Amino acid sequence: MKVLVIGSGGREHAIVWKLSQSPLVKKIYAAPGNPGTALHAENISIPAEDIEGLRSFAQREKIDLTVVGPELPLTLGITDKFRDAGLKVFGPSKAASELEASKVFSKEVMLRHNIPTAFYKKFDNPDFALAYIETHNPPFVVKADGLAAGKGVIICTTKEEASRAIVLIMKEKAFGAAGKRVVIEEFLKGEEASFLAVTDGKTVIPLAPAQDHKAIYDGDKGPNTGGMGAYSPAPVVTPGLTQEIMDTIMVPTVKAMEAEGRPYSGVLYAGLMIYEGKPKVLEFNCRFGDPETQPILMRLDDDLFEVLMSTVEGRLNGRAFKWKGQASVCVVMSAKGYPGEYLKGSEIKGLEEALRLKDVMVFHAGTAIKDGKIVTSGGRVLGVTALGKDISGAIKEAYNAVSMISWEGAYFRKDIGKKALGRGSAKI
Ligand code: AMP
Ligand code: GLY
Repeated sequence: MKVLVIGSGGREHAIVWKLSQSPLVKKIYAAPGNPGTALHAENISIPAEDIEGLRSFAQREKIDLTVVGPELPLTLGITDKFRDAGLKVFGPSKAASELEASKVFSKEVMLRHNIPTAFYKKFDNPDFALAYIETHNPPFVVKADGLAAGKGVIICTTKEEASRAIVLIMKEKAFGAAGKRVVIEEFLKGEEASFLAVTDGKTVIPLAPAQDHKAIYDGDKGPNTGGMGAYSPAPVVTPGLTQEIMDTIMVPTVKAMEAEGRPYSGVLYAGLMIYEGKPKVLEFNCRFGDPETQPILMRLDDDLFEVLMSTVEGRLNGRAFKWKGQASVCVVMSAKGYPGEYLKGSEIKGLEEALRLKDVMVFHAGTAIKDGKIVTSGGRVLGVTALGKDISGAIKEAYNAVSMISWEGAYFRKDIGKKALGRGSAKI
Protein backbone atom coordinates (compact mmCIF):
# COMPACT_ATOMS: atom_id res chain seq x y z
CA MET A 1 0.00 0.00 0.00
CA LYS A 2 1.09 3.58 -0.66
CA VAL A 3 0.47 6.14 2.05
CA LEU A 4 0.70 9.93 1.97
CA VAL A 5 1.13 11.77 5.29
CA ILE A 6 0.40 15.50 5.24
CA GLY A 7 2.25 17.86 7.59
CA SER A 8 5.76 18.56 8.81
CA GLY A 9 5.84 18.41 12.61
CA GLY A 10 6.82 15.95 15.33
CA ARG A 11 3.33 14.45 15.11
CA GLU A 12 3.80 13.67 11.42
CA HIS A 13 7.27 12.20 12.00
CA ALA A 14 5.77 9.90 14.66
CA ILE A 15 2.95 8.87 12.29
CA VAL A 16 5.37 8.18 9.42
CA TRP A 17 7.72 6.22 11.74
CA LYS A 18 4.88 4.05 13.06
CA LEU A 19 3.42 3.46 9.58
CA SER A 20 6.86 2.42 8.33
CA GLN A 21 6.68 -0.59 10.68
CA SER A 22 3.55 -1.95 9.01
CA PRO A 23 4.12 -4.94 6.70
CA LEU A 24 1.16 -3.68 4.67
CA VAL A 25 2.87 -0.39 3.79
CA LYS A 26 5.22 -0.46 0.80
CA LYS A 27 5.83 3.24 0.27
CA ILE A 28 5.28 6.40 2.32
CA TYR A 29 5.30 9.99 1.08
CA ALA A 30 5.36 12.98 3.42
CA ALA A 31 4.16 16.38 2.21
CA PRO A 32 6.07 18.48 2.91
CA GLY A 33 7.66 16.39 5.71
CA ASN A 34 10.90 17.22 7.48
CA PRO A 35 14.40 15.69 7.78
CA GLY A 36 12.98 13.17 10.30
CA THR A 37 10.20 11.92 8.02
CA ALA A 38 12.83 11.61 5.27
CA LEU A 39 14.37 8.72 7.26
CA HIS A 40 11.31 6.55 6.58
CA ALA A 41 9.48 8.27 3.71
CA GLU A 42 10.00 10.26 0.55
CA ASN A 43 9.40 13.95 1.20
CA ILE A 44 7.39 15.78 -1.46
CA SER A 45 7.59 19.55 -1.47
CA ILE A 46 3.88 20.30 -1.57
CA PRO A 47 2.67 22.51 1.31
CA ALA A 48 -0.03 21.10 3.61
CA GLU A 49 -2.45 23.86 2.51
CA ASP A 50 -2.12 23.19 -1.23
CA ILE A 51 -5.20 21.00 -1.40
CA GLU A 52 -5.34 20.84 -5.21
CA GLY A 53 -1.63 20.03 -5.48
CA LEU A 54 -1.97 17.26 -2.91
CA ARG A 55 -5.07 15.82 -4.56
CA SER A 56 -3.47 15.64 -7.99
CA PHE A 57 -0.31 14.09 -6.49
CA ALA A 58 -2.40 11.45 -4.69
CA GLN A 59 -4.31 10.63 -7.87
CA ARG A 60 -1.20 10.47 -10.01
CA GLU A 61 0.66 8.22 -7.55
CA LYS A 62 -2.44 6.09 -6.83
CA ILE A 63 -2.12 6.67 -3.08
CA ASP A 64 -4.12 4.08 -1.12
CA LEU A 65 -4.46 6.14 2.07
CA THR A 66 -3.81 9.78 2.94
CA VAL A 67 -3.38 10.77 6.59
CA VAL A 68 -3.89 14.46 7.44
CA GLY A 69 -1.82 15.69 10.40
CA PRO A 70 -2.60 19.39 11.00
CA GLU A 71 -5.95 21.15 11.39
CA LEU A 72 -5.57 23.73 8.63
CA PRO A 73 -5.98 21.42 5.60
CA LEU A 74 -8.89 19.71 7.39
CA THR A 75 -10.68 23.01 7.94
CA LEU A 76 -9.98 23.90 4.29
CA GLY A 77 -11.90 20.79 3.27
CA ILE A 78 -9.10 18.47 2.13
CA THR A 79 -10.98 15.30 3.03
CA ASP A 80 -14.09 16.36 1.07
CA LYS A 81 -11.96 17.06 -2.02
CA PHE A 82 -10.11 13.74 -1.72
CA ARG A 83 -13.32 11.74 -1.20
CA ASP A 84 -14.94 13.43 -4.19
CA ALA A 85 -11.96 12.26 -6.23
CA GLY A 86 -12.41 8.67 -4.98
CA LEU A 87 -9.36 8.79 -2.68
CA LYS A 88 -9.28 7.30 0.82
CA VAL A 89 -8.35 9.85 3.47
CA PHE A 90 -8.13 9.78 7.27
CA GLY A 91 -9.67 12.85 8.93
CA PRO A 92 -13.02 14.59 9.39
CA SER A 93 -14.87 16.59 6.72
CA LYS A 94 -14.74 20.39 6.61
CA ALA A 95 -18.18 20.55 8.22
CA ALA A 96 -17.13 18.19 11.03
CA SER A 97 -13.82 19.95 11.69
CA GLU A 98 -15.80 23.07 12.66
CA LEU A 99 -15.63 21.43 16.07
CA GLU A 100 -12.05 22.71 16.27
CA ALA A 101 -12.27 25.63 13.83
CA SER A 102 -15.04 27.46 15.71
CA LYS A 103 -15.18 27.66 19.51
CA VAL A 104 -18.71 29.10 19.22
CA PHE A 105 -19.88 26.09 17.18
CA SER A 106 -18.18 23.64 19.52
CA LYS A 107 -19.73 25.24 22.64
CA GLU A 108 -23.16 25.26 20.98
CA VAL A 109 -22.89 21.56 20.11
CA MET A 110 -21.92 20.78 23.71
CA LEU A 111 -24.79 22.85 25.07
CA ARG A 112 -27.35 21.32 22.69
CA HIS A 113 -26.23 17.77 23.48
CA ASN A 114 -25.52 18.05 27.19
CA ILE A 115 -21.78 17.45 27.00
CA PRO A 116 -20.03 18.72 30.16
CA THR A 117 -18.10 21.96 29.58
CA ALA A 118 -17.53 25.37 31.18
CA PHE A 119 -20.40 27.86 31.28
CA TYR A 120 -19.99 30.48 28.50
CA LYS A 121 -21.40 33.44 26.60
CA LYS A 122 -20.64 34.27 22.96
CA PHE A 123 -20.30 37.79 21.57
CA ASP A 124 -19.94 39.25 18.10
CA ASN A 125 -20.09 42.84 19.35
CA PRO A 126 -17.07 44.01 21.42
CA ASP A 127 -19.14 46.56 23.35
CA PHE A 128 -21.52 43.88 24.57
CA ALA A 129 -18.55 41.71 25.53
CA LEU A 130 -17.01 44.62 27.49
CA ALA A 131 -20.34 45.30 29.21
CA TYR A 132 -20.57 41.63 30.23
CA ILE A 133 -17.15 41.86 31.88
CA GLU A 134 -18.24 44.96 33.82
CA THR A 135 -21.22 43.18 35.32
CA HIS A 136 -19.54 39.88 36.20
CA ASN A 137 -16.71 38.72 38.42
CA PRO A 138 -13.28 37.45 37.36
CA PRO A 139 -11.55 35.13 36.59
CA PHE A 140 -12.63 34.95 32.93
CA VAL A 141 -11.30 32.95 30.02
CA VAL A 142 -11.54 34.93 26.78
CA LYS A 143 -11.29 32.88 23.57
CA ALA A 144 -11.13 33.98 19.95
CA ASP A 145 -13.70 31.95 17.99
CA GLY A 146 -11.44 30.79 15.16
CA LEU A 147 -8.05 29.10 14.75
CA ALA A 148 -5.23 31.11 16.33
CA ALA A 149 -2.37 28.58 16.54
CA GLY A 150 -3.07 27.94 20.22
CA LYS A 151 -2.68 31.62 21.13
CA GLY A 152 -6.30 32.73 21.01
CA VAL A 153 -7.13 31.77 24.62
CA ILE A 154 -6.43 34.39 27.30
CA ILE A 155 -6.90 33.64 30.99
CA CYS A 156 -7.80 36.84 32.84
CA THR A 157 -7.68 37.23 36.60
CA THR A 158 -9.01 40.82 36.61
CA LYS A 159 -11.71 42.77 34.76
CA GLU A 160 -8.98 44.98 33.28
CA GLU A 161 -7.16 41.99 31.78
CA ALA A 162 -10.41 40.66 30.35
CA SER A 163 -11.31 44.03 28.79
CA ARG A 164 -7.81 44.25 27.34
CA ALA A 165 -8.16 40.74 25.88
CA ILE A 166 -11.46 41.65 24.22
CA VAL A 167 -9.97 44.81 22.71
CA LEU A 168 -6.91 42.86 21.53
CA ILE A 169 -8.97 40.12 19.89
CA MET A 170 -12.03 42.01 18.60
CA LYS A 171 -10.86 45.58 17.99
CA GLU A 172 -7.14 45.29 17.28
CA LYS A 173 -7.78 41.97 15.49
CA ALA A 174 -4.60 40.35 16.85
CA PHE A 175 -5.75 37.01 15.38
CA GLY A 176 -7.40 38.43 12.27
CA ALA A 177 -10.79 37.02 11.29
CA ALA A 178 -10.49 34.38 14.05
CA GLY A 179 -11.41 37.20 16.46
CA LYS A 180 -14.68 38.34 14.84
CA ARG A 181 -16.47 36.56 17.64
CA VAL A 182 -15.35 35.65 21.16
CA VAL A 183 -16.42 33.19 23.79
CA ILE A 184 -16.15 34.32 27.40
CA GLU A 185 -15.94 31.28 29.58
CA GLU A 186 -16.02 30.35 33.24
CA PHE A 187 -12.53 29.52 34.57
CA LEU A 188 -12.23 25.84 35.44
CA LYS A 189 -9.89 24.55 38.15
CA GLY A 190 -8.28 21.14 37.98
CA GLU A 191 -5.77 19.05 36.09
CA GLU A 192 -5.71 18.86 32.30
CA ALA A 193 -5.56 15.71 30.20
CA SER A 194 -5.67 14.99 26.49
CA PHE A 195 -8.12 12.27 25.59
CA LEU A 196 -7.98 11.06 22.00
CA ALA A 197 -10.27 8.54 20.37
CA VAL A 198 -10.48 7.12 16.88
CA THR A 199 -13.93 6.92 15.32
CA ASP A 200 -15.44 5.87 12.02
CA GLY A 201 -18.60 7.78 12.89
CA LYS A 202 -20.26 4.83 14.63
CA THR A 203 -17.69 3.04 16.79
CA VAL A 204 -15.49 5.12 19.10
CA ILE A 205 -12.24 3.58 20.41
CA PRO A 206 -10.09 5.43 22.95
CA LEU A 207 -6.36 5.86 22.51
CA ALA A 208 -4.14 5.75 25.60
CA PRO A 209 -4.66 8.95 27.62
CA ALA A 210 -1.86 11.49 27.65
CA GLN A 211 -0.95 14.73 29.33
CA ASP A 212 0.55 17.72 27.61
CA HIS A 213 2.66 20.50 29.19
CA LYS A 214 1.53 23.69 27.46
CA ALA A 215 3.43 26.40 29.38
CA ILE A 216 7.00 27.26 28.41
CA TYR A 217 8.56 27.17 31.89
CA ASP A 218 8.84 24.53 34.61
CA GLY A 219 5.94 24.39 37.03
CA ASP A 220 3.52 25.36 34.20
CA LYS A 221 4.66 28.98 34.35
CA GLY A 222 4.91 31.49 31.51
CA PRO A 223 3.06 31.79 28.21
CA ASN A 224 1.43 28.83 26.48
CA THR A 225 3.17 27.05 23.62
CA GLY A 226 2.07 24.33 21.22
CA GLY A 227 3.22 21.87 23.93
CA MET A 228 6.62 21.41 25.61
CA GLY A 229 6.29 17.73 26.32
CA ALA A 230 3.82 14.97 27.04
CA TYR A 231 3.50 11.63 28.73
CA SER A 232 1.31 8.58 28.50
CA PRO A 233 -0.41 7.02 30.37
CA ALA A 234 -1.85 9.94 32.34
CA PRO A 235 -2.64 8.63 35.84
CA VAL A 236 -5.21 11.42 36.37
CA VAL A 237 -7.32 9.47 33.85
CA THR A 238 -8.08 6.33 35.85
CA PRO A 239 -9.77 3.36 34.14
CA GLY A 240 -13.09 4.41 35.75
CA LEU A 241 -12.68 7.93 34.45
CA THR A 242 -11.85 6.60 30.95
CA GLN A 243 -15.26 4.92 30.93
CA GLU A 244 -16.97 8.09 32.16
CA ILE A 245 -15.20 10.20 29.51
CA MET A 246 -16.27 7.74 26.82
CA ASP A 247 -19.87 7.64 28.10
CA THR A 248 -20.41 11.34 28.79
CA ILE A 249 -18.12 13.04 26.25
CA MET A 250 -16.63 11.02 23.38
CA VAL A 251 -19.55 8.80 22.33
CA PRO A 252 -22.17 11.57 22.86
CA THR A 253 -20.07 13.99 20.78
CA VAL A 254 -19.80 11.56 17.87
CA LYS A 255 -23.58 10.95 18.09
CA ALA A 256 -24.17 14.71 18.35
CA MET A 257 -22.19 15.36 15.18
CA GLU A 258 -24.24 12.74 13.36
CA ALA A 259 -27.44 14.41 14.61
CA GLU A 260 -26.10 17.81 13.50
CA GLY A 261 -25.72 16.44 9.96
CA ARG A 262 -21.92 16.52 10.21
CA PRO A 263 -20.87 12.88 10.70
CA TYR A 264 -17.44 12.72 12.30
CA SER A 265 -14.67 10.30 11.39
CA GLY A 266 -10.96 10.41 12.21
CA VAL A 267 -9.39 11.34 15.53
CA LEU A 268 -11.49 13.23 18.04
CA TYR A 269 -9.25 14.92 20.59
CA ALA A 270 -10.85 16.30 23.74
CA GLY A 271 -8.80 18.70 25.86
CA LEU A 272 -10.23 18.04 29.33
CA MET A 273 -10.12 19.66 32.74
CA ILE A 274 -10.54 17.12 35.52
CA TYR A 275 -11.64 18.41 38.89
CA GLU A 276 -12.55 16.15 41.81
CA GLY A 277 -12.71 13.22 39.42
CA LYS A 278 -15.17 14.90 37.01
CA PRO A 279 -14.18 15.72 33.41
CA LYS A 280 -15.24 18.82 31.48
CA VAL A 281 -14.30 19.73 27.90
CA LEU A 282 -12.00 22.72 27.40
CA GLU A 283 -11.81 22.27 23.66
CA PHE A 284 -12.09 19.77 20.85
CA ASN A 285 -9.43 19.21 18.22
CA CYS A 286 -10.16 17.31 15.04
CA ARG A 287 -6.73 15.67 14.64
CA PHE A 288 -3.90 13.94 16.49
CA GLY A 289 -2.33 16.12 19.22
CA ASP A 290 1.23 17.32 19.04
CA PRO A 291 3.28 16.35 21.07
CA GLU A 292 0.84 13.82 22.62
CA THR A 293 0.94 11.62 19.51
CA GLN A 294 4.64 11.01 20.00
CA PRO A 295 4.38 9.13 23.34
CA ILE A 296 1.01 7.62 22.35
CA LEU A 297 2.39 6.03 19.16
CA MET A 298 5.53 4.85 20.98
CA ARG A 299 3.16 2.82 23.17
CA LEU A 300 0.81 1.56 20.45
CA ASP A 301 1.29 -2.18 20.01
CA ASP A 302 -0.83 -2.41 16.89
CA ASP A 303 -0.41 -1.81 13.18
CA LEU A 304 -1.16 1.93 12.72
CA PHE A 305 -1.96 1.44 9.04
CA GLU A 306 -4.62 -1.13 9.96
CA VAL A 307 -6.05 1.21 12.61
CA LEU A 308 -6.29 4.15 10.19
CA MET A 309 -7.54 2.13 7.21
CA SER A 310 -10.24 0.38 9.26
CA THR A 311 -11.40 3.81 10.43
CA VAL A 312 -11.60 5.15 6.89
CA GLU A 313 -13.43 2.02 5.71
CA GLY A 314 -15.88 2.06 8.65
CA ARG A 315 -14.63 -1.27 10.07
CA LEU A 316 -13.85 -0.30 13.68
CA ASN A 317 -16.74 -2.26 15.17
CA GLY A 318 -15.46 -4.92 17.58
CA ARG A 319 -11.87 -3.66 17.60
CA ALA A 320 -9.74 -2.53 20.52
CA PHE A 321 -6.18 -1.29 20.40
CA LYS A 322 -3.23 -3.00 22.07
CA TRP A 323 -0.74 -1.01 24.15
CA LYS A 324 2.76 -1.79 25.29
CA GLY A 325 2.98 -2.29 29.06
CA GLN A 326 5.46 0.57 29.26
CA ALA A 327 5.09 4.30 29.81
CA SER A 328 6.37 6.95 27.43
CA VAL A 329 7.63 10.49 27.92
CA CYS A 330 8.33 13.09 25.23
CA VAL A 331 10.51 16.10 26.03
CA VAL A 332 10.28 18.88 23.46
CA MET A 333 13.52 20.70 22.76
CA SER A 334 12.84 24.21 21.45
CA ALA A 335 14.74 27.13 19.99
CA LYS A 336 15.83 30.05 22.14
CA GLY A 337 13.06 32.67 22.28
CA TYR A 338 10.14 30.32 21.51
CA PRO A 339 7.13 30.91 21.79
CA GLY A 340 8.18 34.45 20.80
CA GLU A 341 10.71 35.27 18.08
CA TYR A 342 13.33 32.54 17.90
CA LEU A 343 16.69 31.78 16.36
CA LYS A 344 16.96 29.54 13.28
CA GLY A 345 19.85 27.80 11.55
CA SER A 346 21.84 26.45 14.54
CA GLU A 347 23.52 23.12 13.88
CA ILE A 348 22.11 20.26 15.97
CA LYS A 349 24.69 17.89 17.45
CA GLY A 350 24.36 14.48 19.07
CA LEU A 351 21.33 13.18 17.13
CA GLU A 352 22.98 9.95 16.02
CA GLU A 353 24.28 9.18 19.48
CA ALA A 354 20.81 9.66 21.00
CA LEU A 355 19.19 7.51 18.32
CA ARG A 356 21.45 4.60 19.21
CA LEU A 357 19.74 4.38 22.60
CA LYS A 358 17.26 1.55 22.95
CA ASP A 359 13.59 2.56 23.15
CA VAL A 360 14.31 6.18 22.25
CA MET A 361 13.02 8.07 19.22
CA VAL A 362 14.00 11.60 18.34
CA PHE A 363 11.08 13.00 16.38
CA HIS A 364 11.88 16.01 14.23
CA ALA A 365 9.61 19.08 14.17
CA GLY A 366 11.40 22.33 13.30
CA THR A 367 14.53 21.03 11.60
CA ALA A 368 16.02 21.54 8.14
CA ILE A 369 19.08 20.41 6.22
CA LYS A 370 21.69 23.06 5.40
CA ASP A 371 25.02 22.19 3.76
CA GLY A 372 24.44 18.53 4.62
CA LYS A 373 23.91 19.30 8.32
CA ILE A 374 20.73 19.19 10.39
CA VAL A 375 19.91 22.66 11.69
CA THR A 376 17.05 24.25 13.64
CA SER A 377 14.28 25.85 11.58
CA GLY A 378 11.27 26.13 13.88
CA GLY A 379 10.23 26.93 17.45
CA ARG A 380 9.66 23.38 18.60
CA VAL A 381 12.68 21.60 17.14
CA LEU A 382 12.69 17.99 18.41
CA GLY A 383 10.46 15.66 20.42
CA VAL A 384 12.80 13.36 22.32
CA THR A 385 10.61 10.41 23.24
CA ALA A 386 11.43 7.35 25.31
CA LEU A 387 9.75 4.24 26.65
CA GLY A 388 10.40 3.13 30.22
CA LYS A 389 9.02 0.54 32.58
CA ASP A 390 6.95 3.30 34.21
CA ILE A 391 6.73 7.11 33.98
CA SER A 392 9.72 7.55 36.24
CA GLY A 393 11.82 5.20 34.06
CA ALA A 394 10.68 6.90 30.86
CA ILE A 395 11.55 10.34 32.28
CA LYS A 396 15.08 9.09 33.00
CA GLU A 397 15.51 7.62 29.53
CA ALA A 398 14.12 10.70 27.76
CA TYR A 399 16.31 13.16 29.69
CA ASN A 400 19.34 10.95 29.17
CA ALA A 401 18.76 11.24 25.41
CA VAL A 402 18.14 15.00 25.70
CA SER A 403 21.50 15.39 27.46
CA MET A 404 23.26 14.02 24.36
CA ILE A 405 21.69 16.57 21.99
CA SER A 406 22.76 20.18 21.78
CA TRP A 407 22.70 23.37 19.72
CA GLU A 408 23.18 27.01 20.47
CA GLY A 409 20.29 28.20 22.62
CA ALA A 410 18.57 24.81 22.97
CA TYR A 411 15.85 24.95 25.63
CA PHE A 412 13.68 22.31 27.28
CA ARG A 413 11.57 21.99 30.41
CA LYS A 414 13.16 19.96 33.20
CA ASP A 415 9.91 18.72 34.75
CA ILE A 416 8.10 16.82 32.01
CA GLY A 417 6.16 13.95 33.56
CA LYS A 418 6.83 15.04 37.13
CA LYS A 419 3.15 15.70 37.77
CA ALA A 420 2.40 12.03 37.20
CA LEU A 421 4.90 10.86 39.83
CA GLY A 422 2.98 12.23 42.82
CA ARG A 423 0.12 9.92 41.89
CA GLY A 424 1.88 6.63 42.45
CA SER A 425 2.22 4.13 39.68
CA ALA A 426 -0.02 4.71 36.71
CA LYS A 427 -2.10 1.81 35.47
CA ILE A 428 -0.63 0.93 32.12
P1 AMP B 1 -8.03 25.67 24.53
O1 AMP B 1 -7.31 26.03 23.25
O2 AMP B 1 -9.46 26.07 24.54
O3 AMP B 1 -7.77 24.28 25.03
O4 AMP B 1 -7.28 26.55 25.64
C1 AMP B 1 -5.89 26.54 25.79
C2 AMP B 1 -5.54 26.36 27.25
O5 AMP B 1 -6.16 27.38 28.04
C3 AMP B 1 -6.04 25.06 27.84
O6 AMP B 1 -5.14 24.01 27.62
C4 AMP B 1 -6.14 25.42 29.30
O7 AMP B 1 -4.87 25.37 29.92
C5 AMP B 1 -6.59 26.84 29.27
N1 AMP B 1 -8.06 26.97 29.35
C6 AMP B 1 -8.93 26.99 28.32
N2 AMP B 1 -10.20 27.11 28.77
C7 AMP B 1 -10.14 27.17 30.11
C8 AMP B 1 -11.12 27.28 31.15
N3 AMP B 1 -12.43 27.40 30.89
N4 AMP B 1 -10.68 27.27 32.42
C9 AMP B 1 -9.37 27.17 32.70
N5 AMP B 1 -8.40 27.08 31.79
C10 AMP B 1 -8.77 27.06 30.49
N1 GLY C 1 -0.81 19.62 22.23
C1 GLY C 1 -1.91 20.42 21.91
C2 GLY C 1 -2.44 20.25 20.56
O1 GLY C 1 -2.09 19.37 19.81
O2 GLY C 1 -3.33 21.02 20.21
